[in-house]
Amino acid sequence: MPRRLRLSLKPAKQLLWFFLWWDMRLSRAKEIGIDAGCGRMENKHLFRTERYVGIDVDTERLAEAHRQHPDAQVINGPIEDAGDVVGDMVLCVQVMHNRFFKVENTLAAVSALVKMVRPNGALIFNFGRPSFPYEAQVDALLAPAFTSVKKRKYGALSANQTVFAPLLALAMFVIPALRKGRGFHKTYYVCRGRIGG
Ligand SMILES: C[S@@+](CC[C@H](N)C(=O)[O-])C[C@H]1O[C@@H](n2cnc3c(N)ncnc32)[C@H](O)[C@@H]1O
Repeated sequence: MPRRLRLSLKPAKQLLWFFLWWDMRLSRAKEIGIDAGCGRMENKHLFRTERYVGIDVDTERLAEAHRQHPDAQVINGPIEDAGDVVGDMVLCVQVMHNRFFKVENTLAAVSALVKMVRPNGALIFNFGRPSFPYEAQVDALLAPAFTSVKKRKYGALSANQTVFAPLLALAMFVIPALRKGRGFHKTYYVCRGRIGG
């Protein structure tokens, strides 16, 4: 089945959906996918894994998502406490700048996400400006845990809404220099090849 592209009226968010549309190919032929902070499971369709596990702290939202996706396995609780759950493709997007997320838990959350990834697995996550003070420590945590860590800065036009968002995001996808500008406050990580675990 072809992967559906999520749409947004916000160019920066649309760019994130382009990134995921491309990078979630990493989940192909993997066994367990974990969507940490899954919300309504709107990224579930991007997982090419045999199994899908959704983690979320919001009990009602998770229950509703589970009703829509009864094949999912669900865990109700904070990511920071879910480090014992393991998978081959771990995704955590639009979570660490969510109002439910305590920014001082950034390192604990990233540490739990890293712990979830099985050997040779991959981790994709993003965060916004409030987490930037922790960025150097996050990088230090990731470097010895993965064979490859790629980081992209983006966020231009994050506050704007326009029907041209897909076009603007496509331009930003192809030409990285366009990702700068007002709202350039987001970091997107793709980590591959979990070492040890
Ligand atoms: C904006 S939604 C994003 C949902 C989904 N990742 C997406 O891209 O559509 C943020 C979700 O993160 C969840 N969340 C926030 N802090 C969390 C935490 N510490 N542990 C687990 N879930 C958390 C919220 O309950 C919410 O469902």
